[in-house]
Amino acid sequence: FESGALAGQRVVITAGPTREPLDPVRYISNHSSGKMGYALARAAIDAGASVQLVSGPVAIPVPERADCRSVTTAQEMLDVCMELVEHCDIFIGCAAVADYRPLIESEQKIKKSSEEMSLKLTRNPDVLATVAGHAAKPFSVGFAAETENLREHALGKLERKGLSMIVANDVSDSSIGFNSENNAALLLWRDANGNGELDVEQCSKDVLAGIVIAQIAKLRQV
Ligand code: PMT
Repeated sequence: FESGALAGQRVVITAGPTREPLDPVRYISNHSSGKMGYALARAAIDAGASVQLVSGPVAIPVPERADCRSVTTAQEMLDVCMELVEHCDIFIGCAAVADYRPLIESEQKIKKSSEEMSLKLTRNPDVLATVAGHAAKPFSVGFAAETENLREHALGKLERKGLSMIVANDVSDSSIGFNSENNAALLLWRDANGNGELDVEQCSKDVLAGIVIAQIAKLRQV
């Protein structure tokens, strides 16, 4: 993309996993490393944007010139994003937010007892859909992590969550997606001409991030 393609734009990017506590020492989470979201932050900075990361717990360094708010749970991620939404032109939801959290967070460590035990879970708020539906109306971009029917499921999320664009990745292949160096994606968007798409073959997360940022810049211009 052209440097300066996002000059003056305020970009908020969620990245990494969330952790949903069960008790003081245990949680439910997933394998997101933050690499994809942090690569997007670097690409947006290179395009001239000011970038605010809202990051779950990861083990990689915050890109230079990005601001980062660290969060743990989906609810905390939502709270921080709601603080930032009024000052946000472009929102990119790359975090692997837990869809459910334990209904009860035990104050004490849960003791071993019978052979089987069940956990009761409850739905988490949807950070991306909430931001996209906010009156401030940032240009909202989601990711879709799918293991089957990539296009169909991603288009469903684009519509349901009220997004401008979605980046669909197949997470059934461990060489791409969660915690790998590379990724491949199908970008789907809506514009004045209807729907558009771009198929990006396997490449590094940095290269994919550059392509996503360039496509966002293009859609913002028209
Ligand atoms: O972090 P890496 O190891 O580099 O891996 C990158 C990635 C695979 C995590 C990333 O490319 C990716 O696909 N991120 C989205 C993961 C995900 O949660 O997808 P989803 O299809 O379940 O969710 C759809 C969208 O809604 C996502 O933009 C997600 O951030 C958002 N969401 C989901 C649930 C929820 N409660 N709140 C949300 O905001």
